[in-house]
Amino acid sequence: MQREAHLNNAALMARRRAALPSGLGQSYDIVAERAENAEVWDVEGKRYIDFAGGIAVLNTGHRHPKIVAAVKAQLDKVHHTCFQVLAYEPYIELAERLIAKAPGDFAKKAFFLTTGAEAVENAVKIARSATRRSAVIAFGGGFHGRTLLGMALTGKVAPYKAGFGPFPAEVYHAKYPNALHGVSEADALASIEAIFKYDVEPERVAAIIVEPVLRALCDRHGIVFIADEVQTGAGRTGTWLACEQWGVAPDMITMAKSMAGGFPISAVIGRADLMDKPGPGGLGGTYAGSPLACAAALAVLDVFEEEKLLDRSKAIGERLVAGLKKIAASHKAIQDVRGLGAMVAIELFKDGDLSKPDADLTKRLCAEAARRGLILLSCGSYANVVRVLVPLTASDALIEEGLAVMADSFKAVA
Ligand SMILES: Cc1ncc(COP(=O)(O)O)c(C=O)c1O
Repeated sequence: MQREAHLNNAALMARRRAALPSGLGQSYDIVAERAENAEVWDVEGKRYIDFAGGIAVLNTGHRHPKIVAAVKAQLDKVHHTCFQVLAYEPYIELAERLIAKAPGDFAKKAFFLTTGAEAVENAVKIARSATRRSAVIAFGGGFHGRTLLGMALTGKVAPYKAGFGPFPAEVYHAKYPNALHGVSEADALASIEAIFKYDVEPERVAAIIVEPVLRALCDRHGIVFIADEVQTGAGRTGTWLACEQWGVAPDMITMAKSMAGGFPISAVIGRADLMDKPGPGGLGGTYAGSPLACAAALAVLDVFEEEKLLDRSKAIGERLVAGLKKIAASHKAIQDVRGLGAMVAIELFKDGDLSKPDADLTKRLCAEAARRGLILLSCGSYANVVRVLVPLTASDALIEEGLAVMADSFKAVA
């Protein structure tokens, strides 16, 4: 009875604030109690449409029955050995299936970690081990995780890096092409040449992490090309991996988030000749590639095939872009509606002026939508982007309902 009395958002948030550090941010003062596909209910019974998907983790939705069943079945067999002590078949099968889905006409290997940041760190470790070089080039605005190397690679000071330095050395940032903010592809390439001129010779660069157009430049200088697909991977962009659409095969790919539908696991998939460079014991982790997460990831692969979720990703993306363009037609603040598959975003500017990114409006819009029962995510270098990462298993009716809430929220805050 006593527990029941305290089950409301305000009381639980007060307990959260007293017990947890404030650095652990939270978008909304809402405490989830249960969830189903693309809907969440809070502890007070209020229902929300989930356009955030646990930040790109729930492409197969909350509690997909097949994934839940696979994890339960695995739980009844073995749930931990530490793979470096005793192997288990789901890990091996998952590596085989992910290798088969990665682009590139060369032998590949894969292994698993627990978080996206760990996958990124391990890809860099392998690139350094294979090339015997130390430097890494990443991009301004990119996010690669909250570990020290993850933060070093991340190209955004506030809130991720401020106060946490010094960071691992020899990480350099180039410009990321962004036409809306005045950075062309030529500018981005020139910024890498500038790093080669002012900071580090290309012969000392082990890896470049992220940008697809850089394959040729990497080849020219023997630099390992890493595609960080932690967020874009597992079907978000309409193909299993976003790099399939770029027509280039990365030397290494990192995955996490939606690859196991919410069970913590990440992957590094890469050229076999690179992946075999670190010596025994150099890679791994106590929980890395846990049997439960491997079982979930195998079920995710099956669900993608059975429910044709790549087609669904494209269709959802088209529906969202069309709906958001309709909203944009009556709101000057929305100056960009973009999408790659179901990775969709809008960008907001004060009075539609591209020199005035509107973080305040973005914040008010998200708060209003949450009040009306829709969970949105804000992001971007200027905190003026709203992104939609709704589960690919969501029905058209639910997506339309969410779009209608967005339209009403815009009207309320504009
Ligand atoms: C592209 C990318 N890389 C790495 C990460 C870090 O993943 P994790 O939070 O699981 O460590 C993220 C998380 O948002 C990401 O989007």
